[in-house]
Amino acid sequence: MRAVDIIMKKRNNEKLTQEEIKFFIDGYTKGSVEDYQMSALAMAIYFQSMDDEEATYLTKAMLETGDVIDLSKINGVKVDKHSTGGVGDKTSLVVAPLVASLGIKFAKMSGRGLGHTGGTLDKLESIPGYNIELTEDEFIKQVNDIGIALIGQTLELVPADKKLYALRDVTATVESIPLIASSIMSKKLASGADVICLDVKVGSGAFMKNIEEATKLGKLMVEIGKKCGKKMTAVLTNMDEPLGFAVGNSLEVIEAINTLNGNGPKDFTNLCLEIASHLIFDANYASSLEEAKQLCLKQIENREGLQSLANLVSHQGGDASYIFNPTKFEKAKYIIEVKAASNGYIKRIDALTIGHAAMLLGAGRQTIKDKICHSVGIVLNKKVGDYVNNGDTLLYIHTNFSDNKEIIENVLQAYCIQDEACEPQLILKVIK
Ligand code: URA
Repeated sequence: MRAVDIIMKKRNNEKLTQEEIKFFIDGYTKGSVEDYQMSALAMAIYFQSMDDEEATYLTKAMLETGDVIDLSKINGVKVDKHSTGGVGDKTSLVVAPLVASLGIKFAKMSGRGLGHTGGTLDKLESIPGYNIELTEDEFIKQVNDIGIALIGQTLELVPADKKLYALRDVTATVESIPLIASSIMSKKLASGADVICLDVKVGSGAFMKNIEEATKLGKLMVEIGKKCGKKMTAVLTNMDEPLGFAVGNSLEVIEAINTLNGNGPKDFTNLCLEIASHLIFDANYASSLEEAKQLCLKQIENREGLQSLANLVSHQGGDASYIFNPTKFEKAKYIIEVKAASNGYIKRIDALTIGHAAMLLGAGRQTIKDKICHSVGIVLNKKVGDYVNNGDTLLYIHTNFSDNKEIIENVLQAYCIQDEACEPQLILKVIK
């Protein structure tokens, strides 16, 4: 087999075989297929695309280049969720304890965040003592004991994706649906869960700019997962504003705690209930989505979801008293109000602009080596659809800087305020 023949075949819009795809991906990972050949194939895939079967072969070939987490020693159904990247997205902090409190196993290895705000691990590390480094045996034991673990990546999952993603970034081939689907799904499949719910973000700040593209991506990922024996759901959600009110690590943990206490923002609570319900239903713990949702509401009302989050924190060395008393979280030095300069309905709060501002405050990393400041960030006071009068507070900046002029100018640019009323719609579509 020769790499050049495989490139030519895809260039000519012919279907690749499983052997050809595996030969190419293995060779690229080991170095016998060159970067320029992989770039050419990625560009051929960008233009000619792949059918579901080819995309599944590509996903499997990538998955097989690295470690696969073996969760077989965990009793019962294992579930996982993944978001394609949102601002203010602390969904795992609510969904994981909610489903775990019902006896469903949530075993998650995550990476750290880069860009807009921290990832789930950075958020959890705003709780003093929280340790993301468990050995594989400790990880398995904890999930068997309390149903939940959220740790950093210890194994080398999908090295092919690490290499290929960096190459796609510099060869204008990121925005290819089969390449995105295989990148995301190879990592999800390597994480070993039986049931997976994907949150595919749609909008100006997301990879998928419109619902048509997002639907294609969601359908393909669901198909790949099913072909690999998983129960799959993709929920397409709008990213015309940050999720909930809080953006920034400890601010988001506090919002997750409020949500588990029944006092969360409406949009965020609804998304958590939606994702948790699909996981519960697909794990056969409820006979309908409505029954699954009622189970979640019960776990919020009786505080068992909150208790499960506290168990997670204390088992991983963190101070669980923060979960029951969030006023203990370290605060930023200053809280600055940013006010509306006109009257009208908020049509959009550009999530990327808000996420970028939070990163500049220190809530996220510009490079992987940057240190995060857990207490800083942004808390919205108004959401899309709300009416504001000139002078009303739009948001609060939690900052350790004394001069925030540039950040204030930045966040104001995120707002689109208009005369016509508008109704935000968060959940756009569900694909099973
Ligand atoms: N997220 C990924 O992990 N891979 C992609 O290709 C795009 C988003």
